Amino acid sequence: KKNVFSGIQPTGIPTLGNYLGAMRNWPLLQEEYHCIYSVVDLHSLTVRQEPANLRRQTLSLVALLLACGINPEKSLLFIQSHVPAHAELAWLLNCYTQFGELSRMTQFKDKSAKHPDNINAGLFCYPVLMAADILLYQADLVPVGADQKQHMELARDVAGRFNGIYGDVFRIPEPYIPKDGARVMSLQEPAKKMSKSDENPNAYILLLDDADTILRKFRRAVTDSEAEVVCREGKDGINNLISIYSIVTGKTVPEVEHEFAGKGYGDFKTAVGEAVAEALRPVRETYADLLKNKDYLADVYTKGAEKARAIAGRTYAKACKKLGLVLPQ
Ligand code: TYM
Repeated sequence: KKNVFSGIQPTGIPTLGNYLGAMRNWPLLQEEYHCIYSVVDLHSLTVRQEPANLRRQTLSLVALLLACGINPEKSLLFIQSHVPAHAELAWLLNCYTQFGELSRMTQFKDKSAKHPDNINAGLFCYPVLMAADILLYQADLVPVGADQKQHMELARDVAGRFNGIYGDVFRIPEPYIPKDGARVMSLQEPAKKMSKSDENPNAYILLLDDADTILRKFRRAVTDSEAEVVCREGKDGINNLISIYSIVTGKTVPEVEHEFAGKGYGDFKTAVGEAVAEALRPVRETYADLLKNKDYLADVYTKGAEKARAIAGRTYAKACKKLGLVLPQ
């Protein structure tokens, strides 16, 4: 069986972009692969977090991932900071990653432009920690949205470089980017990706938004001055809505175009809003039930971390040994 690894940061409630680009696909892989999923709390420290929020959001995200369908009997689900080998391997890999390659990361450039007062070393080395996450579990496939492609390339480069010097230590991972939903766009500026850090809340749908809020945000979605529901170059807003509608309903793009032929944008936006609200309803309901059961959540992430520590510890020890570090006896 191939190994799958992916992670998500506990920086607020995930968006419809996180869901369609990543979270929704994670449970679909558990039948076929050995899946390991992590709430990457260490990554979120690269941007200043309020401690009480971080704690709440981390637990909430564990519940939300379970609500999306991750089954702890089949997959490992754990909190990154519970497995020290992530930070440890990241240090080793830092010494095999060049300043120049990290300087080229577009996410680093974007985030440092956005937070000029806090361009910390962690933010710069973020992709190395991500590489460590993946390489520790000898992952073959990493299901992520399109925005993580460059980080994935770095992880592959660093792993290949390390293997080139020390022999086969790490499996070289492949990004697993969905055909549809890999880049869900902002509802307000459809040339930009949907992001929960957008200052305009109408730009994104949060997984826990109620049906009325979802409907209202879709009705306000920015489109274009034409009136045809067709997927075409230059119609970023409509293309995004068609893509979202197509994923949540399982209809093809031509089917969607046919369904709304001769109808206006108003009808279409309402239909998209209703379909998304309906698709997220079971997630929201299951989440609310799970959150009441803190003991169950603790049991899931505690057992998950125990198993993860065993797997990660083996890879870390192997890397240390190859480097010439003396292992504790
Ligand atoms: P994060 O927490 O920002 O996002 C989690 C996942 O959601 C995807 N995503 C999107 N997909 C489609 N459309 C969008 N608008 C959209 N916005 C976000 C992301 O691509 C991601 O898959 N660096 C990672 C977390 C991470 C990780 C890892 C991932 C840390 N270690 C190891 C994989 C493997 C991140 O910041 O994701």
